Amino acid sequence: MRIGLLGFGVVGRGVYDIIALRSDMEVAKVVCLEDISLPDAQVTKHFDDVLSDSTINTVVEAMGGLHPAYEFVRAAIEAGKNIVTSNKALVATFYDELIPLAESKGVCFRCTAAVGGGIGWLSELERARRAQSIHRVGGIMNGTCNYILDSMTRLDLSYADALSQAQALGYAEANPSTDVDGIDTWHKLILSSNIGFGITLDPESVPAAGIRNIRAEDVANFKAHGLVCKLISTGKSQDGSFSAYVQPTLVHQGEPEAAVPANYNLITLVGSASGRMSFYGQGAGRYPTAYNVVQDCVDVLSGKHFYSPYGKKISAVNADALCYYVSGVQDSWLEDNRQATWGDAVITKPVSVKAMHAWLKNHPDAFIAALPVSEQ
Ligand SMILES: NC(=O)c1ccc[n+]([C@@H]2O[C@H](COP(=O)([O-])OP(=O)(O)OC[C@H]3O[C@@H](n4cnc5c(N)ncnc54)[C@H](OP(=O)(O)O)[C@@H]3O)[C@@H](O)[C@H]2O)c1
Repeated sequence: MRIGLLGFGVVGRGVYDIIALRSDMEVAKVVCLEDISLPDAQVTKHFDDVLSDSTINTVVEAMGGLHPAYEFVRAAIEAGKNIVTSNKALVATFYDELIPLAESKGVCFRCTAAVGGGIGWLSELERARRAQSIHRVGGIMNGTCNYILDSMTRLDLSYADALSQAQALGYAEANPSTDVDGIDTWHKLILSSNIGFGITLDPESVPAAGIRNIRAEDVANFKAHGLVCKLISTGKSQDGSFSAYVQPTLVHQGEPEAAVPANYNLITLVGSASGRMSFYGQGAGRYPTAYNVVQDCVDVLSGKHFYSPYGKKISAVNADALCYYVSGVQDSWLEDNRQATWGDAVITKPVSVKAMHAWLKNHPDAFIAALPVSEQ
């Protein structure tokens, strides 16, 4: 396998290092904007040098972002090259273009590192769905949010201090929005649901609430009720309809999610035969993530195509009625739906996920967290 590697940052460099130890594949060219030289690969600033090289049969995309990653990956597929990418935003956003295109061109398209970094979640989901129906996917998919929430819970840090610590450790970006506003988890949930259920979720129908507005007082309220707050994604398939949403969720101390420390992930599927299976590990980092990229390259070598057939575009329904903890804002809709009060926060009567997220869109300063299902 001759590889054109796009991007030489955290993941790209790791992929290069691991592949350098192998004899069944080689990185022939690296597209990198910086002036670097490598002993055994040609470095270029121009993607066309990879595209026009007919000896390169596989493109590994590790640049991130939507553009020009989309244009490069699309052109590579059109040119008959296999794709391996760690870019969740790219695959979740252009799923209904890139997956059918790869199928029609007969090239392999793999993206295991896009969800869970070093955890082989998508490749296990692929295996799981071969022998049963998948009823549920989701869980803790973002290590940065878990680190912040865990620090606030165990160390009583404020949100600002926990975020600063995550930034100092390299877990959070200087602009943390993609993580703390739930966007990263949103991409991962869409991708996992598409593969697990064999559909193409309309991203617009999948709401995401993040953790940006959580206060130390909220965490104290949760502790007083024996609860822990986690950012949890939920994808559900039931009787031909689908729900998918990302939101802070309260879990009882003693549940597996409550015990997930620091920047770890815990991603779960529920299958018709297997029941619950959970996958735990570091969801990011150079070598764990690069490891899964290389695993995908090995799968491509053995001719493995995408994880599931492309399924038609469908909207999430999100009719589940849940009780929510809401703080930071008061208004008449909340008053009408109040069933209890914790400190200065409202506990709502059961309201649909769709209605709660529609309300939140108009109240960006609020913090919401779904109560555990046992408390509904
Ligand atoms: N880091 C992780 O642990 C992890 C885990 C799972 C998935 N991922 C995903 O993997 C992808 C890469 O992440 P990363 O952490 O490796 O990012 P990164 O460290 O920022 O590396 C991206 C690299 O791509 C380069 N690049 C950007 N645009 C380019 C272009 N047009 N041509 C050539 N090179 C270009 C960047 O160069 P400049 O710096 O010069 O812009 C940078 O070196 C992202 O989609 C991310 O979501 C990362």
